[in-house]
Amino acid sequence: MADKIQEIIAELAKAYNMELETVTSYIAASTNLDGVRAEEIKKSLAADIPAELAHAQLIAKRIKTLGGQVPGSRALKFEQATLQPLPDSTDVVAVIKGVLDAEGGAIKQYGKLIELCNGVDYVTQDMCITILGDEEEHRQEFRGYLKEYEKAR
Ligand SMILES: [Fe+2]
Ligand SMILES: [Fe+2]
Repeated sequence: MADKIQEIIAELAKAYNMELETVTSYIAASTNLDGVRAEEIKKSLAADIPAELAHAQLIAKRIKTLGGQVPGSRALKFEQATLQPLPDSTDVVAVIKGVLDAEGGAIKQYGKLIELCNGVDYVTQDMCITILGDEEEHRQEFRGYLKEYEKAR
């Protein structure tokens, strides 16, 4: 049981890392993008920033409740390759695809946590299910944008 909780804390720390990376990437992308076609995406990304930050805060609180320690900035690793700023600041489609990668990664991580928590930690499981629902909504939103923007390319 104690081992399982340690495993859950470690996976929560990964999710925490991912949420914070998403916050920084969405701040950058929502600011860096240029052009008329980018306006809606910029607004949508900017609106998601507080949601992703709230996820990070929920996870931090849960890590603490489980007896763990919230990682410091030096323990964080940012490696999301497809959301790095591009030479072409009007490439909206590339940003949308990067967002889909980030949301897909989060969805995978929360799925892993939900399974890991089964029969062990229902509170963390419940939290991850709620966050998973948010990420699925984000992904669906950006899948819709991709459809539209790829057509107009
Ligand atoms: Fe999130
Ligand atoms: Fe998200």
